[in-house]
Amino acid sequence: MKILGIPGSIRKRSYNRALLEAAITLLPPNVTMEIHDLSQLPLYNDDLAAQKPPNSVLSFRDHIKTSNSLWIASPEYNYSITGVLKNALDWAATNTISNLLVNKTVAIMGASRSNFGTVRSQLHLRQILFAAGAHVIQKPEVHIRRAQDLVSAHGAFKDERTLIKIRALLDAIILDTA
Ligand code: FNR
Repeated sequence: MKILGIPGSIRKRSYNRALLEAAITLLPPNVTMEIHDLSQLPLYNDDLAAQKPPNSVLSFRDHIKTSNSLWIASPEYNYSITGVLKNALDWAATNTISNLLVNKTVAIMGASRSNFGTVRSQLHLRQILFAAGAHVIQKPEVHIRRAQDLVSAHGAFKDERTLIKIRALLDAIILDTA
């Protein structure tokens, strides 16, 4: 089983990327997960989609096609998801090429420095994924609050409470995809 990890942040020391990296340490032997860096994707342009999308778009879409499920970890920006993630989801779901998110299993989680743990942006993300026709895992909800207090000096999540939450969502993805 293949999972594609999609961080909504392209920051080097991103807490959300670190959540996905923590998930990789918890995978059972029959599951693999790769993290896709969204920084190479151009801004969505329907003309580009209709002509020849650049390799970065084709590679992102190929990774989605060959993965059983997607696992998104995104920051909250102004109560919503990041522009970087929204742009990537538009490239994935555009009908101009083909919508790859229809019935795709998608799990979501998020970490923030605030006390809200991305709760507001995850509602937006569910709405966007509903529009795209994705199959979104409903529970458990994973909101990691005050991420700066939880990561190690190297920026990794190693605390048991965070790992338990990630493991519970991983179990739900595996159960859903089985
Ligand atoms: C934020 N941040 C933020 N946090 C939050 O809880 N709610 C919000 O609405 C916002 N809005 C917001 C907008 C912008 C433009 C930035 C740059 C930041 C703070 C955010 O949670 C924090 O920067 C996280 O560390 C971002 O996640 P990564 O990059 O560490 O994964």
